[in-house]
Amino acid sequence: MGRLVLYAGRSNPDLAEEIASRLEMRLSKATIEPFPDGETRVRLEESVRGTDVFIIQSTCPPANRNVMELLLMIDAARRASAQRITAVIPYYGYARQEKKLTGRVPISAKLVANLIEAAGADRILTIDLHAPAIEGFFDIPVDHLRSAPLMADYLRDFLPPNSVVVSPDVGGVKRANRFRHFLGKEASLAVIFKERPEEPGSPEILGMVGDVEGKTAVIVDDIIATGETILRAAELLAERGAQAIYACAIHPVLVPGVVEKLNNSPIEKLVVTNTIPIPPEKQSDKIEVVSMASLLATAILYIHKGLSMTTLFKEVEEKWRAERQPA
Ligand code: R5P
Repeated sequence: MGRLVLYAGRSNPDLAEEIASRLEMRLSKATIEPFPDGETRVRLEESVRGTDVFIIQSTCPPANRNVMELLLMIDAARRASAQRITAVIPYYGYARQEKKLTGRVPISAKLVANLIEAAGADRILTIDLHAPAIEGFFDIPVDHLRSAPLMADYLRDFLPPNSVVVSPDVGGVKRANRFRHFLGKEASLAVIFKERPEEPGSPEILGMVGDVEGKTAVIVDDIIATGETILRAAELLAERGAQAIYACAIHPVLVPGVVEKLNNSPIEKLVVTNTIPIPPEKQSDKIEVVSMASLLATAILYIHKGLSMTTLFKEVEEKWRAERQPA
């Protein structure tokens, strides 16, 4: 495989720089700018001929701009004779439109996958897809990293042994249980049941299975966007007598207004990752960010060297276990 080359779109410059610095490399220079008519113009300023190119771009808001940038950068790399192109997509946008909930709607997550493949990507590296089945929307290899070990590591110190991990909906039970496993405490699991309307809008909470009274609860979800899911779950937990409430959302989409609601909520801390940057106006003392740079950098190196990703996952788990062995 040719030389490793890193490029980044404009979606998440800090994460891209951090990945490059972990790899003791620099990002190759790209020009990405709007044409006067609003179209995007891309030029890769350094040669990629015969190289192993990684293009880092979250397809977070502004999603359409960021998807288009990614597609144009992949196309540019392919036409400039890159040997292999990996799209590193820490947050895969459009993932919540992955099935038809009603008639005459697209399956947007599949369309975006088709576009990325058609542009010329050879493989995908991503973190916690909203629905793991999205891996199958691609006919190229997808390396799907999980943030649970790093998130659980971060939250462990805040959580007493009698904690309860809460999934805010049935679809998130596996994710919450994986988090519980990595927490390594005698934590229990609770699940909130909700019903989503067919049209976009507030889901109705139907009930909860599990006991939270007098316990520290940690809500585990993949995304916080409007905050409806996590904030309503937190209200329910407070009503049911939870002693302290934490929340963990992997991808901080954070639409305008949600941080104010978070600040006025019973949630003590919201732990997120840096798959999506948080601009200064959305920062809060309640939000803690866990970096995914080292995980992504290691995965990039493994892919480049042709090492087994299963080995990487095992190594992460073994390291985690070793650190928890009594001396
Ligand atoms: C739903 O299925 C997802 O896992 C998240 O719970 C949801 O997307 C969060 O969005 P919001 O913050 O707008 O409720």
